[in-house]
Amino acid sequence: MGFAVQPARRINARMRLSLCALVCVLISLIAGAADAAAQKPDATETLRGAAQKSNLLMGTAAGADSLSEPLYSSTLAAQYSQLEPENEMKFGPIHPEPTTYDYAAADALVAFAQAHAMRVRGHNLVWQEQLPGWITHRLLPWTPADLNRVLASHIANVVGHYKGRVYAWDVVNEPFNDDGTMRSTVWYNSPGIGFAGQGTRTIEQALRWAHAADPTARLFVNEIGAEVLNRKSNAVYAMAKDFVKRGVPLSGIGLEFHVGPGFDQLDNLDSLNRNVRRLAALGLEVQFTEVDVRLPNNNAANLSVQAQNYKDLLNICLQQPACTAFQTWGFTDKHSWIPAIDHGHGWALPFDQNYRKKPAYLAMLKKLNSHSGTRVRFQSSR
Ligand code: XIL
Repeated sequence: MGFAVQPARRINARMRLSLCALVCVLISLIAGAADAAAQKPDATETLRGAAQKSNLLMGTAAGADSLSEPLYSSTLAAQYSQLEPENEMKFGPIHPEPTTYDYAAADALVAFAQAHAMRVRGHNLVWQEQLPGWITHRLLPWTPADLNRVLASHIANVVGHYKGRVYAWDVVNEPFNDDGTMRSTVWYNSPGIGFAGQGTRTIEQALRWAHAADPTARLFVNEIGAEVLNRKSNAVYAMAKDFVKRGVPLSGIGLEFHVGPGFDQLDNLDSLNRNVRRLAALGLEVQFTEVDVRLPNNNAANLSVQAQNYKDLLNICLQQPACTAFQTWGFTDKHSWIPAIDHGHGWALPFDQNYRKKPAYLAMLKKLNSHSGTRVRFQSSR
């Protein structure tokens, strides 16, 4: 008998267990659905929602070709409040022939942004890279007077096309050398638009043209390697101070931040903090425009150091109300520019190749949520 009772008891016990498990699953499913419905408007669960509570725009560079990927477009729309075309507004793509403007790809990004209530940051109007052949390989050498007309009409045309739809422009991109001198470029001195050897006058002219084309757009000079105190950031600061003093239409400085995992050393962060503060003290906005933190591999230790870097950079931006946007250079490792320019490196962004959230994403979200509501809205006086 004992043998017959034991298995029957076991079966009963098992049935009770699995019945309970079923009920539990059902209850948790119903509760989960209710939870999900209740949580939908909870802004603490996306970068853009969490950042908005601190009056911070959460931006990313984006590419028109990737919009057709469902996970790309859904992540972009859900997580970011600012979109910057990664390549589509650059001189070569948008002005491929002397009398041809090709706005299709950039327009698609702007339309996407508008459909998802995102701001658009224009990038860029004056740069020495990604220029069309008709600028770089002209049979007859350019005269400064001709180049001046070309650049004036380029800026008028592009800024005019996006008037009211692009709220801020990188008017001039990467104009300085590391030692703080002006970089030798087709626009500055080879042959330049007429102000070769006259310091920042080329930049000033470009800002004035952009301002004339859209007086409400916020105008930036964007620079690489000028994040911390150094000769380049000193030159940017001196330019900014001079422009503010003379009423040149400059709204802010963009700091790129293409960095590695060793960036967030204490002394470096302190230096960055001082640089941001001295620019803010001029009444200018500062935006972190192209953040990515490249790694040599994606092991857990590196991902956690990367997360700490993202958190530290975001923290410095959050501490300064003049820091109005925190933008990464793309958001998924699948479409990052790093592997193409730095072989053996990559894994630089907050989402992995499969759009899974990385420790960097979680660290940023946590940082944003812990800072909520402590920042006032800032806009430069211009
Ligand atoms: C990069 C893009 O990400 C690449 O796809 C392109 O091939 C080259 O340009 N500083 C800038 C950006 O201001 O425009 C650059 O973008 C990265 C460095």
